[in-house]
Parts: sequence; C-alpha cells; structure tokens
Amino acid sequence: MNLWTRLLRWYDKNGRDLPWRKTRDPYRILVSEIMLQQTQVSRGLIFYDRWLQQFPDWKTLAKASNADVIKAWAGLGYNRRALMLRDIACQIVGTNRAVFARPHENRAVPETEAAWRELKGIGPYTAAAISAFALRQRTLPIDTNIRRVLGRLLFGTTYPQPTIDDKIRANVDRALPKRGRFYDVPQAIFDLATTHCTKVPTCATCPMRTVCPSAEKFLSGRVRVPKQMVKKAVESKHRDKKFPDRIYRGRILKHVRENGSVEIDEIGPVVDAGFDATVDRDWIIAMVRRMEKDGMLSYLGDRVTLPKNL
Ligand code: ADE
Repeated sequence: MNLWTRLLRWYDKNGRDLPWRKTRDPYRILVSEIMLQQTQVSRGLIFYDRWLQQFPDWKTLAKASNADVIKAWAGLGYNRRALMLRDIACQIVGTNRAVFARPHENRAVPETEAAWRELKGIGPYTAAAISAFALRQRTLPIDTNIRRVLGRLLFGTTYPQPTIDDKIRANVDRALPKRGRFYDVPQAIFDLATTHCTKVPTCATCPMRTVCPSAEKFLSGRVRVPKQMVKKAVESKHRDKKFPDRIYRGRILKHVRENGSVEIDEIGPVVDAGFDATVDRDWIIAMVRRMEKDGMLSYLGDRVTLPKNL
C-alpha cells in the first residue's frame, strides 16, 4: 500500500467531520482558512456557522462596515483578519472602499492559484489552500502542521523549520498522489497533525509508523524536543509589561466593543492592572492611534468608539 492510500484510508475512518470540508465554495473555504490562522479548530467551529449566517457571500461581506465585522469577529482575536477578509471580498466584488488608496476594477472570483495570489491579503498558503480545496487543483498548502508532518514523513526531519518548504515543494510528487484525491491529502495531514504527529508525536499508534523515517527516531527516545520549533515573530512590548501590545490592543477593542463609546483616559486602568498614567498614558494613546489607522477604532476628541463611516 503506498503512502497516500494508507493516509487516506486512515482519514476516511478517522477524519474529523468539519463543515468546510463539505463545501467547494471558495468564499466558505476562505472564511475557514482565515479563521483557522492562529485559531484552534474547536474555536473556529463556534464562529464559522454564525459568520456565514451573518455574511453568507462575498457581496454581503463586501457591504459590511468595519464596526460590523469587528463585532462579528469578537472572540476570535487577531482582529485585523476580520477587516482583511472583508477587504478581500471588496476586491472580488469590485467595491471601492474609503480604506483603499486606489479604486478596484471589477473582478470575478479568481479561478487559479496565481490569480488568488494577486489579491491583497492572500498569501501563498491561503492561495494554495483555496486552490486545493475549492478548485481541487493539485497544489500543496504548507502551514506549520503540513510542514511538520511532511518534513518527518518524507525526509525524516524530526523538527522541520520553514527552510524545508522549498524542498517539500520540489518533492510535490512524493507529497501528493498524481491522480485521485490529492485535494484530500492536506486535510488528512491536518488531522494526523493533531492526533499523532503533534510536537511530541505518538508514533506508537500512528497509521504511518511503518513508512515514516522519523518514527524510529522518536520511538528510540533519543530525539530532543526543541523549546521553540519556529522562531516566534518579534512582538512589540511596552517597558516591563507582562504581555505584548497585541494583548492590550485586544483588550482595548473588547472594552470599546462592549461599551460603545469610552473616554481615552478610562482605557488604561481597564486593560492593564499595573497601569501608571505618568508612564503608560502615551503608550495607550499610541496603541489607540495605531488601531485607528488600521480601521479598528475611531478616536475623536477624548472619545474612542468603533469606527464610524467606514
Ligand atoms: N488548518 C488550516 N486549514 C485547516 C482545515 N481545512 N482543516 C483543519 N485544520 C486546518
């Protein structure tokens, strides 16, 4: 039995029943992929249906205001993803929004991976994912899960780094079957990555154990687990604050979302238990200004609200 028959057989019996696996609608696939960036599947599931009820298609989403999408995204975090998703819908529908520097020509929904990549906000991973799952093209989206599984399975690299991606792509013929259900292989890999091929893998029960060159390494017990698999993005942080700014920006947005309109000076003590106005006031204002620039807030006079007129 070859590698992919083995994997797909396991997937058919053990794969997760996920709503975005039952559709080929590029809109629904994109929504799921953007939600699943930096969000766990269990959490994405809670929001996916609700989002689709509120914004069932490109057109509805393209018409939504910044405040609408920010409210609908509440709880998912990394809020810029919500605006980016809406902006992608605008590019597809061909609406010109104030947030764009230049008007967009009227486009249709892209039909190739290359055309998806031309859209602002769509990176190589997302373009490949939509091409594989919606267009059923034979292409390989590589995220951290796919990299980890394929690095181990194809090359015996126990903790593959992003530098392995070119090697994986160059071996796409080993990574994907020539015909048949190549579009299901990445989905099967996502599942293998959460059940067996985790950071510290459970090779003993893995369906790929007998064909995986990493299994014997792990089972020998001599593989050292690196503290950090992939270098974390450098995040800005203010003096001796406990968290990166991203966390405080999330709290600011939550506070404004829940209260409608708040005074600038009321924000600091709410979002930071150790807030000290003499050294932290400018920090809060700088974060609010940045969020205003990103289209997430309005800051007028002393008051901060969700964006108006966007
Ligand atoms: N992570 C990214 N895309 C995914 C998908 N379609 N299913 C499960 N996990 C994912």
